[in-house]
Amino acid sequence: MANLHVIDHPLIQHKISLMRDKNTGTKEFRELVSETAMLICYEATRDLPLKGIEMETPLCMAKTKIVSGHKLAFVPILRAGLGMIEGVTSLVPAAKIGHIGIFRDPQTHNSVKYYCKLPDDIAERDVILVDPMLATGNTACAAVTELKKIGVKNIKFMCILSSPEGASHLIKTHPDVDIYCGTMDEGLNDDKYIIPGLGDAGDRIFGTK
Ligand code: URA
Repeated sequence: MANLHVIDHPLIQHKISLMRDKNTGTKEFRELVSETAMLICYEATRDLPLKGIEMETPLCMAKTKIVSGHKLAFVPILRAGLGMIEGVTSLVPAAKIGHIGIFRDPQTHNSVKYYCKLPDDIAERDVILVDPMLATGNTACAAVTELKKIGVKNIKFMCILSSPEGASHLIKTHPDVDIYCGTMDEGLNDDKYIIPGLGDAGDRIFGTK
């Protein structure tokens, strides 16, 4: 069964409050998304396996540990997920990055895939999908389905804001996918925007509105 991790660290809550403010401009918003993504990623990678190694320090031999196991890939869901990539790769610089483009049909709210470019060895990697907003969950579910189709076995989903509807849709559809989010908001409005939310994350990251 999937685990829902709401990472309610004070710094994350503070940064999300600044992101919610409609007066926060593009530059600051983009920085906040990146910083918050890095903080959530710290928790999403908490269970990475380690292996013991020996290493020579300037003073003596040391038994120490390094990350082992499967390699990681981050997959942003276009386009808002791109805003989280700088933050997460600052923690895991060797991770590969794939891209999935899915948009929400504004009438039906169904997800429509228009782009998919993934590393060749994606099926051997653990994947963290990133999208700032888990709203209806349709896009997240479609992205996970796409990754599973090509053989990815270990998938986590990282977002900054989630709605209860989106989280429960993703958990029901993909119970093996753990969710990491910065906060759980109240719900969705009639246009399926998260309430109170922060508006359209893509527009605010890229300054398109
Ligand atoms: N996508 C957004 O950018 N914002 C929402 O509130 C919901 C989906």
